[in-house]
Amino acid sequence: MRCRSIFFVELIAAFVVCFILVCEIGFAGDSENRRAYRQGQSERQSQSSRQNSNDLDSRLSRMLSENNVTPIDTPSQDSNQVLLGQALFFDRILSGNRDTACATCHHSLTATSDALALGVGTETETPGAISVFRVRGEGRHFVPRNAPDIFNRGSEHWHTAFWDGRASTTDGVIVSPAGDQLPSELTTPLQIQAMFPVTSRDEMRGLMEDAANGNELAAIDDSDFTGIWDALMVRLLANETYREMFAAAFPDVAEGDLGFQHAAIAIAAFETEAFGMNDSPFDRYVGGDADALSHDAKKGALLFYGSANCVSCHSGTLLTDQQHHNLAVPQLGPGKDPVSGLDFGRFGVTGASNDLFKFRTPALRNVAETGPWMHNGAFSSLEDVIRHHADPEQSLTSYDPEVQLFQPDLRDLVIRDEGLNEWMLEGVDMNDDSLEGNRVRLLVAFLESLTAPDLQARLDWVVPSSVPSGLLEDGIPEMN
Ligand code: HEC
Ligand code: HEC
Repeated sequence: MRCRSIFFVELIAAFVVCFILVCEIGFAGDSENRRAYRQGQSERQSQSSRQNSNDLDSRLSRMLSENNVTPIDTPSQDSNQVLLGQALFFDRILSGNRDTACATCHHSLTATSDALALGVGTETETPGAISVFRVRGEGRHFVPRNAPDIFNRGSEHWHTAFWDGRASTTDGVIVSPAGDQLPSELTTPLQIQAMFPVTSRDEMRGLMEDAANGNELAAIDDSDFTGIWDALMVRLLANETYREMFAAAFPDVAEGDLGFQHAAIAIAAFETEAFGMNDSPFDRYVGGDADALSHDAKKGALLFYGSANCVSCHSGTLLTDQQHHNLAVPQLGPGKDPVSGLDFGRFGVTGASNDLFKFRTPALRNVAETGPWMHNGAFSSLEDVIRHHADPEQSLTSYDPEVQLFQPDLRDLVIRDEGLNEWMLEGVDMNDDSLEGNRVRLLVAFLESLTAPDLQARLDWVVPSSVPSGLLEDGIPEMN
């Protein structure tokens, strides 16, 4: 058997050799002509592809400038404020139960989010652990919304924070859930935002019952923002190292005048410095480097700014209009509304019925690294996100948590209700079912070009080696 197959192989090889010889001899005469012809052809081809790519670049550049897209800004920060902010961001001392830091849900190891659809706040079974390794404490809920990435939030273009825009500085008017309790030193949405995770019972502060375990923040009334911030400052300033760091970061403020707003200003300085990146292929292209984007990414960009009209919402330098839209994303998780278990989005802030189910358009830098996506992490692939935009009705009614939802323990918390689907679809803001196949692939190539190079390596320095309280959130679980 073996011999025979070797024989066949040899026979075939002999035929192939003869065939090549015959061909070469037969065509030897006009080989000169052929070479000249081929050369001409390849020159014509590369000329026309250069022409095509010049056309593509000039169309794209025109669209980018028509839409006021500029490379993103990364404002520079005071280095002592950055150091203080870094310590605070990674220190679990900011949470009532001393088990949760900002970094728990916005860790550099998980691209400033937590790589979860819905995350786990305070009273965890596994302090120190992040992402899938963090286990909910008994009787505790998931956090109701997806932890967004926080890249480039220090850009001067921002005037809103949160999925529902409940903190904002639009047209110089400061709005926040704390009303007139908000200290006047805060000027940017990023600084204002940093005041609130410490007040949220799910995220950092803890439930009333935690007061019995030495959590002095838990006993304070929910509406007493000032009381919560003051109590936290008492904690922080009891620590000698923090006293020194605050003094270095705010040399003009007497210790007695320090408030949690100074902590928030420092945290915002750190976030701006650590997570501001302006050299994604897209930013370099916008800055004038025509070779920075691949051909597919350019074609995807043409769709984004052209026929797919993503730019009608993902507009400007930040790739968001900072407005709210209803995309009829499947509802899941504990929800924000305690009665219905639903998340009404912007409606929860304004009470206006035309704001029902609307969420703020997300900014898209590094988006390929920050899934699961949408305000509740309902989708775990960018293709699904785009297909949902293209046909919300089809995507909503055929949503399959077994396949599309990343966390198995959330699958039972998906709300399936025809009446709800119809209600959400009534006000839906998208419908472009021409988006499929190759167009989806090109849009994904464009979205990937928004990722800064060596992202993970560049985030390595961000985790400090220690924090003043000793409660560093480095992502490594504590051993009991
Ligand atoms: C338990 C998880 C968790 C913790 C801890 C946490 N966050 Fe968040 N963060 C979230 C979620 C969820 C949202 C979105 C909430 C919403 O929009 O309603 C959010 C929103 C934000 C935003 C707004 C981003 C945007 O696009 O508007 C920033 C900035 C941010 N967090 C920074 C922080 C800082 C600073 C801390 C610590 C003081 C912190 N977070 C603690 C989960 C967390
Ligand atoms: C009508 C406004 C609108 C248009 C047009 C639009 N988007 Fe969106 N996009 C949104 C909103 C709003 C969300 C968040 C929805 C939610 O979570 O409920 C979103 C979410 C996303 C996300 C997920 C981001 C994240 O961090 O979770 C991506 C990616 C995205 N859009 C890409 C696109 C692309 C590509 C197009 C064009 C095909 C497009 N969008 C068109 C408003 C829009």
